[in-house]
Amino acid sequence: MVTGASSGIGAAFARRLAHDGFQLILVARRHDLLQQLAGELGGAETLAADLTLEEDLARVEARIASAPELELLVNNAGFGTKGWLWEAPLDGQERMHQLHVMATLRLTRAALAAMVPRARGGVINVSSVAAFGQSPGNVAYCATKAWMNSFTEGLDLELRGAGSPVRVQALCPGFTVTAFHDTMGMNRQGIPAWLWMRAEDVVDASLRGLERGKLFVVPGAVYKLVVILEKLAPRWLRSAAVVRAARHARRTEEA
Ligand SMILES: NC(=O)c1ccc[n+]([C@@H]2O[C@H](COP(=O)([O-])OP(=O)(O)OC[C@H]3O[C@@H](n4cnc5c(N)ncnc54)[C@H](OP(=O)(O)O)[C@@H]3O)[C@@H](O)[C@H]2O)c1
Repeated sequence: MVTGASSGIGAAFARRLAHDGFQLILVARRHDLLQQLAGELGGAETLAADLTLEEDLARVEARIASAPELELLVNNAGFGTKGWLWEAPLDGQERMHQLHVMATLRLTRAALAAMVPRARGGVINVSSVAAFGQSPGNVAYCATKAWMNSFTEGLDLELRGAGSPVRVQALCPGFTVTAFHDTMGMNRQGIPAWLWMRAEDVVDASLRGLERGKLFVVPGAVYKLVVILEKLAPRWLRSAAVVRAARHARRTEEA
């Protein structure tokens, strides 16, 4: 099952997994796009669901419960918002928590309930390189992705503690060419070309990492370096750099 399969990284997962011979269940709100993709793949089950709505989330959870042979769950559906927390509409921040946190929690739990007794399967949570730090204007995004990393790491410890071979992964991509930035109304022009990755390469890195049992997968050498620097730099230095960048962004916005 791939959530957020109607576009971007989720659609790339669907194409790659179909190529590898998986039977797919594709989940997203835009059913027309899911059906189009299912047609392109030569058939796949499609579930139209808004995972921020209780009724829809429960329906997808129930579908997982009725698929005891589920091999892989990719919790990929997600979005970003723009704006300082006290100015950005609350609705978007709440929906982001529903989608990144509650849907990930509920669907992962539903999948593991069958995978663990069967001693087989895996869950990939599509987080972000943003999980390793904070960036003003994206506070809830960074926080929810940090939750995904912590959740996935905790589960990995539980699974290993229980002697289960079921694997979990937090996939942490950097800038990837998808509809993500258009949806959040962010101008891509300001970001240098060498920072952009292809969704297909992100998916390759993820599935390679899953085979090797890697808990955190950060695709691309540049982003691996970014994460190492984030970890090595003292908190005061990171905070000073981020506040400086934030002040500059604020002044530019106001100009
Ligand atoms: N692109 C990047 O630079 C980047 C970097 C790091 C991490 N990520 C993460 O990668 C994941 C995929 O994003 P993407 O880059 O592929 O962006 P995208 O092309 O905008 O795809 C987002 C997907 O999420 C689905 N979705 C959004 N809200 C949903 C909801 N309420 N219920 C169900 N599905 C929903 C969308 O489908 P519908 O609109 O049809 O529902 C779409 O299929 C996200 O979790 C994102 O945070 C992206």
